Amino acid sequence: MVQIAVLGYGTVGSGVLEVFKTNGDSINKRAGKEIKVKYVLDRREFPGDPVSSILVHDIEPILADPEIQVVVEVMGGVEPAYTFVKRALLDGKSVVTSNKELVAKHGAELLKIAKEKDINFLFEASVGGGIPIIRPLNQSLTADEIYEITGILNGTTNFILTKMKEEGLPFETVLKEAQEKGYAERNPEADIEGHDACRKIAILSSLAFGMQVDYEDIYTEGITAISQADMAYAAKMDREIKLVAMSKKQDNEVWARVSPLLLRMDHPLSTVHGVFNAILVKGNVIGDVMFYGKGAGKLPTASAVVADIVDAVKHLERNIMSFWSTKKMELLDSYYAPTQYFIRLGYTDFSTAIKQVESLFGNIHSIQLEDYKDEFGFITHESTEGEIQEKLDQLMDGSSGLEIRNKIRVE
Ligand code: NDP
Ligand code: HSE
Repeated sequence: MVQIAVLGYGTVGSGVLEVFKTNGDSINKRAGKEIKVKYVLDRREFPGDPVSSILVHDIEPILADPEIQVVVEVMGGVEPAYTFVKRALLDGKSVVTSNKELVAKHGAELLKIAKEKDINFLFEASVGGGIPIIRPLNQSLTADEIYEITGILNGTTNFILTKMKEEGLPFETVLKEAQEKGYAERNPEADIEGHDACRKIAILSSLAFGMQVDYEDIYTEGITAISQADMAYAAKMDREIKLVAMSKKQDNEVWARVSPLLLRMDHPLSTVHGVFNAILVKGNVIGDVMFYGKGAGKLPTASAVVADIVDAVKHLERNIMSFWSTKKMELLDSYYAPTQYFIRLGYTDFSTAIKQVESLFGNIHSIQLEDYKDEFGFITHESTEGEIQEKLDQLMDGSSGLEIRNKIRVE
């Protein structure tokens, strides 16, 4: 028998216990041993819940118990999760976590400790909820040089954008629904401002490129500026607005970004709706591979956590994760990243506005909508982030009478 402790009895933690309750027999068969949850740590009491018989409020008995061989961290946040996880690993206990903040910040160090101790630090659920993506990058795609990862990596924002488009619902209403369904982070700003997707692309990039990609270095923009007007223009252009995280290696330089993108309908990510996530990986031998599934929520996430527990139990004294170096990867300055924008401009005189825009951006095709009378939209030619921003600064020089209503990158 292998005994484990679960730290955190919230959405994911309670899901982990539910998965053991539902599929315990087959899980034990696959692990080759009976898995028993000996402790659950949480701050709160859960009166009437069977978990009460194994509930503790202090980490010390867990770390001091030699019978605990796997610790499952599903509390979230960097501290005290980092301290608990590091101590568990140093004590020779394998760790499974769903905590992307922790992995993005301290993954390299924690993987190194696990390697030195010949145990495991596993984090499949930290990216893409229930989608297997860490394991494929670690085990299945190792023949390839990965040169691009592009994904919808946040379920909350994809759920919001889908409901805004399909049901015309206001942003705040849909965010509340995502919170009620257990998709959103404790502080949902992490979802809607893009930080959660940023941490996830940092983890995937670190794994794929073998060096520490600091999430603080990744240009990140969320979805709070996206309005029903943007949705209407997207529909007119036969495109979908998605929050997309990407990192690309070009000529030995890597650039990464999280931002809303206007995707053409034939883009593989354009059909990913609701809480679903998808990750497109490009390798120099395999070509394109796509991973798809539920990116957030209690049971899909718990499924990935429990699969890691099984792997940890099957490899109690053998390290199976490759690790990335703590050496920092310098990312290409986003000024030089190639891009194209859709820009919505408010104007007072249409023909003057078009002349001003074309003098800087060259010939454009203007898009106008019945419901938005004093503005038009256009798509720039491809350039760099920096050059487009400089042209926009010139356009807004104070005397133009133009107003940028929004600008969204186009893929
Ligand atoms: P919840 O907030 O629902 O659950 C966390 C639980 O841990 C709460 O009960 C919380 O108690 C408890 N907790 C937090 N800190 C401590 C502490 N120091 N000591 C004891 N108990 C503590 O979060 P989720 O289950 O949604 O998420 C957990 C982790 O999994 C996060 O890192 C999240 O980003 C990640 N994740 C979540 C997914 C999802 O769909 N929800 C999907 C993939 C990953 P209290 O409420 O009192 O603070
Ligand atoms: N808040 C996250 C999301 C949870 O919505 O994707 C899964 O990591």
